[in-house]
Parts: sequence; C-alpha cells; structure tokens
Amino acid sequence: MNEISVGIIGTGSYVPTRIMTNQELEQKVDTSDKWIIERTGIRERRITLEGQATSDLATEAAKRALDNAGISADELDLIIVATITPDMLFPSVACLVQANLKATKAAAFDLSAACSGFVYGLVTASQFIKSGLYEKILVIGAENLSKILDWTDRNTCVLFGDGAGAAVVAKTPPGYGILGVDLGADGSGAGFLNVPAGGSRIPASAETVTNRQHFLQMNGPEVYKFAVKIMGASALKALANANLSPADISYVVPHQANIRIIESAAKRLGVSMDKVAVSVAKYANTSSASIPIGLDEAFRSGTIKKDDIVVVVGFGAGLTWASSVIKWSI
Ligand code: ACO
Repeated sequence: MNEISVGIIGTGSYVPTRIMTNQELEQKVDTSDKWIIERTGIRERRITLEGQATSDLATEAAKRALDNAGISADELDLIIVATITPDMLFPSVACLVQANLKATKAAAFDLSAACSGFVYGLVTASQFIKSGLYEKILVIGAENLSKILDWTDRNTCVLFGDGAGAAVVAKTPPGYGILGVDLGADGSGAGFLNVPAGGSRIPASAETVTNRQHFLQMNGPEVYKFAVKIMGASALKALANANLSPADISYVVPHQANIRIIESAAKRLGVSMDKVAVSVAKYANTSSASIPIGLDEAFRSGTIKKDDIVVVVGFGAGLTWASSVIKWSI
C-alpha cells in the first residue's frame, strides 16, 4: 500500500473577547436563560466587536495553527477558508487571510458548505496533497454570524456565536491521518436555512432591507430532524470507510448546534459523552468554526493524543453533512 497518508499537523483557534450571556438576550427578545439552556445547552456566546470581520478571526486562528505546526506562512501552498459569513461577497476571505499572513506562495479560495465546511475543506485539502500537487495547506473555519443574525428573532438569535478554528494539513507517517470520510448534500432542503437576499436571486434593495431578508432564516424543527438522523449515520459511514467500528473511537468532535443533537449522535454511535467534545455551552453554534475550535481545544488540553482515533462530524445549511475519521499523528 503506497498511498500517501495525510492528516493534521497543527491546530489553532480564536474567539472574540466579548461574551454575550443568555441574561443579556433576555433584555433583547422574549426568551429566558432557562429555555435556552433546556432546549439547546447554550449558556453564552462570543460576539465580534464592531468593525471586526471574519478574516480578522480567521487570521488569528491561522497564526496559532502555523505556530502549533512549527511552519511559517511562506511554506503554505494553499489556504481554504470555509465560511458562510465572508467579509464581503468577493474577494474570498482566503485571499484576505493570504495577504494578512504574507503567505505569498499560497493559492486561496473559500468553500461554502455551512457547518460542514471545515470537514469539506479538510477532505478537499487532503486530495491536493494525495495527488502530489501540494504539500502544506491551511484549512480554516471562520464565522461572524452575529453580523447576519436578526436580533429581534428569538427563534434564531439565541443559537449562534462567532469564532474561528484552523488546521495545517500535510503528509503524515503511513497509517496516520485521514482514514475514512463521508461527504453529502441534499439541496432539496436549501430553504430550511439561508440568507434569502443579497445574492443574484434577490438582489439587495431598500425593500429587502425593510423585509429583513439579509438576516439568517431557519426552520429549526426541520433542521433538527435532519441533524439527528444524519450525524450518527454519516459518522458510521466514515468509520466503515476506514474499516473501523464505533468501538475504535477515542474521541468525537461533533458540530456544536444543540446539546440534544450532540447527545443523540453519541447515543447512535454508542459513545459515552465523556468521549465527546462539548463547547456549545460557552460558544453556541459557530457554524464552520465549531469543529476546528473543538479539535484545537481537545488537542491543546491533551484530551486528543497521538494514536487516538478521532471522528469529526458536521451538518448544516445546504443541506450538507461531512464526517472524517482521523488517526491523530502529533
Ligand atoms: N425563547 C423562548 N421560546 C422560544 C425561543 C426562545 N429563544 N425560540 C423558540 N421558542 C418557542 C417557539 O416559538 C415555540 O413556541 P410555540 O410552541 O408557542 O410555537 C416553542 O419555543 C417550541 O419551539 P420548537 O421549535 O418546538 O422548539 P425545539 O425544542 O424544536 O427547539 C431549536 C428549537 C432549538 C431551534 C431546535 O429546533 C434546534 O436546535 N434546531 C436545529 C437548529 C440547528 O442545528 N441549526 C444550525 C444548523 S447549522 C448551520 O448550517 C448554520
């Protein structure tokens, strides 16, 4: 077997310093700390300051990941940023990060797969390395959801937060790195979660602003049903793809949308909650950033160690889903 092994050789993350508690939200909309904790597990979230854009968060997480991997920005061949909250429609956040890092050799593009975006990016990066085209790739998940939330809509504004996570992807010793993957999409569910206006379907106008169509809109119960079904199923597919079973799992880093969704996925996998990353209480749903933030926190705290079998699994707007099984090499 001479296939090239590819995995993560360094991680980093960054969250804004400003904390918004559930009590603060009680002042904005008709909600309660009790409802939010019981229905979602969220206690607080981080919120960007005015003028703080997604590329600012992404750059900070990227610097930390490069430092952790022990490589410099000029060694990077490619930067992939997974985001649904870019600084602007174009150019890509990846180009802005490339300039900030002075990663002059790196190609750069954004990837839109919502909360599954980081895992989509990880799998995409691994293919560039397996093909022999590139050696070192930075994959970032970064979101500034607070800037597209309708702060008068209690159904959505309590659920999300801001942050960024990053990983340096490169060759690993044989047998380590990404062992199995599962990517998927069901575009028929596109209407369940989106920002309706500001694109080519409904261009920005005074009317779209009045109608609040530039804010995130979600059919929560539909997304919930989809998430509960797909999280366990996708992780099981990635495990089968790696010729492994749930009993082999050392640690799971799931997308952080709702503690009840995370618990049901863990149950489906037969994994106890002490083997599952949970940060939804302190950061809420940071979309594409939640998995790389979880990986970084678990790695830096020593929860994830060399030789561990780590499963990452996400779902989100699109609808999309993505899982990967990684044998940790660092
Ligand atoms: N505070 C108080 N009450 C609220 C709030 C709130 N913040 N939000 C909704 N409610 C009310 C509703 O209006 C409803 O009231 P009604 O019964 O009088 O109509 C009641 O609470 C129950 O609403 P449900 O929708 O049934 O509540 P549920 O238990 O399903 O929880 C939730 C709602 C948390 C949104 C859940 O459906 C969920 O987590 N969905 C998945 C969301 C998700 O994962 N999204 C992210 C996808 S990732 C991405 O790509 C960005």
